[in-house]
Amino acid sequence: MLDALFSPVRIGALDLPNRVVMAPLTRARATPNNVPTELMARYYAQRADCGLIVSEACAVDPLGMGWYRVPGIWTDEMAAGWRKVTDAVHAAGGRIVLQLWHMGRLVLPEYLGGELPVGPSAIAGEGETMAPPGPDYKGGFLPMKPYVVPREMTQADIDRVIAAYGAGARRAMAAGFDGVEIHGANGYIIDQFLQSKTNVRTDKYGGSLENRTRLLSEIVAAVAKEVPADRIGLRISPTSERKGMGDENPGALAERIGAICGEAGLAYVHLIEPIASGFVDKPEHPVMVNLRARFHGAVIQNGSFDAASADAFIAGNQADAISFGRPYIANPDLVTRMREGQPLAAANFDFAYVGEERGYTDYPRAG
Ligand SMILES: Cc1cc2nc3c(=O)[nH]c(=O)nc-3n(C[C@H](O)[C@H](O)[C@H](O)COP(=O)(O)O)c2cc1C
Repeated sequence: MLDALFSPVRIGALDLPNRVVMAPLTRARATPNNVPTELMARYYAQRADCGLIVSEACAVDPLGMGWYRVPGIWTDEMAAGWRKVTDAVHAAGGRIVLQLWHMGRLVLPEYLGGELPVGPSAIAGEGETMAPPGPDYKGGFLPMKPYVVPREMTQADIDRVIAAYGAGARRAMAAGFDGVEIHGANGYIIDQFLQSKTNVRTDKYGGSLENRTRLLSEIVAAVAKEVPADRIGLRISPTSERKGMGDENPGALAERIGAICGEAGLAYVHLIEPIASGFVDKPEHPVMVNLRARFHGAVIQNGSFDAASADAFIAGNQADAISFGRPYIANPDLVTRMREGQPLAAANFDFAYVGEERGYTDYPRAG
């Protein structure tokens, strides 16, 4: 049982002992100055028996950071904090890549000293997000504020984002990561350029599919100058409409992205394409087939999988590995529990995005 899920696989330069990937999970346990902590090292080491850990999203530039206590990678101090994490994961026998992140239009001005966030076009995200706490904050839930209309990016703004991804990738490798994952999903800056609803630019970064994927191509090239391509992955969610996203033709977009990743020789594409609605909706028209028509590297699929469905997808050659997000919150020993058919613990989401040890490193192993 579950032979496919627990079979080894080579993804680019990485040898995975099994095909269970820990999906990136923002947990907001860095310092208020965005430096990774010992506590984070313990949390990741607890989960190191999976095939590959994708770190929580990590900001490459203060202008792209809009969430209290998320980690960054734009200073040497942050890289030194990450070194504790990579050392702990490697000592526990695991592998970990850093997810490189820029939130673009989804950063509240409160994080930017009152300045507007940047985005491809002056179109606000839909919904609200957590604002930073005031000086008398004692822990607990943060105030929610609606997204604002961003400032349309100039060429200089675009150049800064590309350079920040390159610099972040360089620091990630110096901090001991096994590779990097470019965050091109979930309505953040790359996705904002990719999808037609959020990118109405009339310059070479907007309009045609070629133009909307230009920022992605340039970021991939900048990162590939710092990291061997077979240690780079890309995460995408072309069918997700969360936070006001939308594309006129997600299948065509997935094909074009597949071609870019294929030409660059990336290790993997990490596709959020849920098999049931949950964190994001199950798409009416899945795009895995479009992606794989043009990309022949490994594909990691994500979204509402359990052990049986993950095993079936891998056995059926529909994906090379499966990532698990929410199950990893309360099950540090998810690999063992799935392998032994033990029940999974339920997560307490009150501590998902805020807090200290509680609801983070204190979930027990089964038995
Ligand atoms: C608490 C939480 C934090 C998340 N943080 C990130 C993140 O930092 N980067 C990212 O790409 N996705 C993030 N996601 C999305 C997950 O990686 C994953 O796509 C989602 O949970 C669906 O997978 P699942 O059904 O296995 O939970 C987050 C999800 C949750 C629940």
